Amino acid sequence: MTPRPLTVAVVGATGVVGRTMIQVLTERLFPVAQLRLLASGRSAGRMVEVEGRTVEIREATPEAFDGVDIALFSAGGDVAQVLAPAAVARGATVIDNSSAWRMDPTVPLVVSQVNADDLGWHEGIVANPNCSTMQLAPVLMALRDSVGIERVVVDTYQSVSGTGADAITELEGQVRAHVAGEPMRASVYPHPIAFNALPEIDVFLPNGYTKEEWKVVTESRKILHLPDLRISCTAVRIPVFVSHSEAVHVETRDPLSPDRARELFDRVPGVIVRDDPSRHDYPLATEAAGRDEIFVGRVRQDASIPGDRGIAFWVVSDNLRKGAATNAVQLAEILVERGWIKAAAARNAAGTRA
Ligand SMILES: NC(=O)c1ccc[n+]([C@@H]2O[C@H](COP(=O)([O-])OP(=O)(O)OC[C@H]3O[C@@H](n4cnc5c(N)ncnc54)[C@H](OP(=O)(O)O)[C@@H]3O)[C@@H](O)[C@H]2O)c1
Repeated sequence: MTPRPLTVAVVGATGVVGRTMIQVLTERLFPVAQLRLLASGRSAGRMVEVEGRTVEIREATPEAFDGVDIALFSAGGDVAQVLAPAAVARGATVIDNSSAWRMDPTVPLVVSQVNADDLGWHEGIVANPNCSTMQLAPVLMALRDSVGIERVVVDTYQSVSGTGADAITELEGQVRAHVAGEPMRASVYPHPIAFNALPEIDVFLPNGYTKEEWKVVTESRKILHLPDLRISCTAVRIPVFVSHSEAVHVETRDPLSPDRARELFDRVPGVIVRDDPSRHDYPLATEAAGRDEIFVGRVRQDASIPGDRGIAFWVVSDNLRKGAATNAVQLAEILVERGWIKAAAARNAAGTRA
């Protein structure tokens, strides 16, 4: 099927995820008839280059979605809460990167290679998972489908680009200040991120976890269709610019050897196993940056679990690409391929929200 060219809006087009979305749409030759770049009023009127053409940034208002087929949102939860329903009411299908809609039972939360069929029941809004959950879910899927999962413990080592453009600038500024022997200024994070590891990502919840850690817990359960999955997380921000790394320990229902685990991981679309300790070969943030794949290595038997039912490994992926923009565009591609983007006119005529 040759899809008809679509009117596509990118909301948050000036941010690190929004800019990556524009790049990924172009790279993957997504059938864009018109690209509408939206951001806050602060950026309205700015001109940006896309594929040699100059495109003006417009303010994201409800009216800006008139005629839009697909809207890729990456402008934070508050914006998505208000503008995603407004875009849907005007006939757009929304894929939102914020946490605003992820746990809404009427909104599918989808990783392209894990639960694409869930897209079939969207009512206008589809949620893109949190970046740390995104790279974990395809790997856990392989274990769920082969040996069953009893329990997961994941500790994340997350890059500053996961916080957005201001955090990248803050880390650069602190590194420069350190080299110049000047005091480091922190405003995005509560402490200097340069030369540090901050065990605080997003706000603290009453249960002692941070919201980021709890997103990994609840989103993994929803994506994997394992509502009772026993999973715990510690999320740590580290002074890396791009790519999140994760140390994962899984207790499986049935025994699993590291060799078999590598085979299972290797079969998952979009997952690459890099695991040769003799050559110091394992996934690195710097090598995953700019790539769409999820890299897995350091696969070994977890010695703390009897009966070969424990497996430990290291997962690395670019948080801006697979962790955000690439998955969003992959979901848009699936929606188009399966005919699940409904034309605005048809939806309005049917008088439904979606
Ligand atoms: N960074 C990641 O790795 C990652 C991964 C997954 C999900 N996400 C989610 O993606 C979203 C954006 O993250 P980011 O890292 O790209 O942040 P960012 O670099 O700070 O960019 C934020 C974007 O939102 C826009 N925006 C802010 N207020 C707005 C408003 N009132 N109306 C319209 N647009 C507004 C900004 O426009 P102006 O330039 O005009 O202010 C900018 O384009 C967040 O919800 C984040 O949780 C991020």
